[in-house]
Amino acid sequence: MRQSFGSSMPLIPRKRAKSLAPGELCAAVIAVAAQKGGVGKTTTTVSLGAALARYYGKKVLLVDLDAQGHVHLALQKLVHAGGDSLAELLEEPTTREVAEIAVGTKIEGLEVTPACAELARAENRLSTRIGKELVLRDLLEVSRTHYDVILLDCPPNLGNLTLNGLVAADYVLVPCNPAMLAVAGVEGLLGAVEEIQGALNPDLKVLGLVLTRVDQRNTATNSLVAQMLNENWGELLSPVQIAADAAVARAQLEGQDLYGFDPNGRAAANYCELAEWTLDRLGLPR
Ligand SMILES: Nc1ncnc2c1ncn2[C@@H]1O[C@H](COP(=O)(O)OP(=O)(O)OP(=O)(O)O)[C@@H](O)[C@H]1O
Ligand SMILES: [Mg+2]
Repeated sequence: MRQSFGSSMPLIPRKRAKSLAPGELCAAVIAVAAQKGGVGKTTTTVSLGAALARYYGKKVLLVDLDAQGHVHLALQKLVHAGGDSLAELLEEPTTREVAEIAVGTKIEGLEVTPACAELARAENRLSTRIGKELVLRDLLEVSRTHYDVILLDCPPNLGNLTLNGLVAADYVLVPCNPAMLAVAGVEGLLGAVEEIQGALNPDLKVLGLVLTRVDQRNTATNSLVAQMLNENWGELLSPVQIAADAAVARAQLEGQDLYGFDPNGRAAANYCELAEWTLDRLGLPR
């Protein structure tokens, strides 16, 4: 005989009530992603976020989805102590949100999630979970009402964490340095974006491709790469290019953002231009 269940016993668990009270903002969530490593994802996340907070008064959250913890490292002199592990939130169904584990920085308006080496473990565990691509989106549901912009620093692959980033995001920003392998990586990433648009996140838009670490001495390579990007994805290519600038590595070594280290440098100026271009693309006031 079939067992009958009373109406008080739901077969499908209800969505958990969130512990975070809604705020009044409505963040644009931007995944900074590229399939290739070392193309400037973290530098772009940190420098764009710092520019938006420092010079345009935006409330910004940087979410470090990379177990390398480079966002925190790059800002270690400025980041306040504390904060819980993002891995825990990703691994266990929870009422907590990403905004609840974020910590402030000495830059007004800028918050970051703590470095989290356990993200590698969390990524593996996600693969056995039903709805594994949707976890981060759920963890940002209320958080996004507390910020103007949320930047997701993705790891250099198309694994579960990048997938979660692209499903949670409204936009993807793709850094690419002037090198053949980086251009090939753009193709792979944009292919994944198309699949995600078709299956999991129809609202995902490409904010743009941005050329990073452009060394003005390599004019022949630069113009060849710019031409290839233009021919294939011209309409997506940001007019702002980020110059190669030794201040980037030195600021990161010191654990502070470009503007705290050398506000008059070339890369600092370029990232300010990128911030303005981003605000215009998002339709947000400068
Ligand atoms: N504009 C620039 N000028 C000079 N050096 C740069 C510039 N942008 C990034 N770099 C350097 O290039 C290296 C890679 O940058 P970054 O860590 O931002 O790349 P990434 O894509 O996040 O790397 P990963 O794939 O490992 O996460 C770093 O050592 C950084 O200091
Ligand atoms: Mg990185």
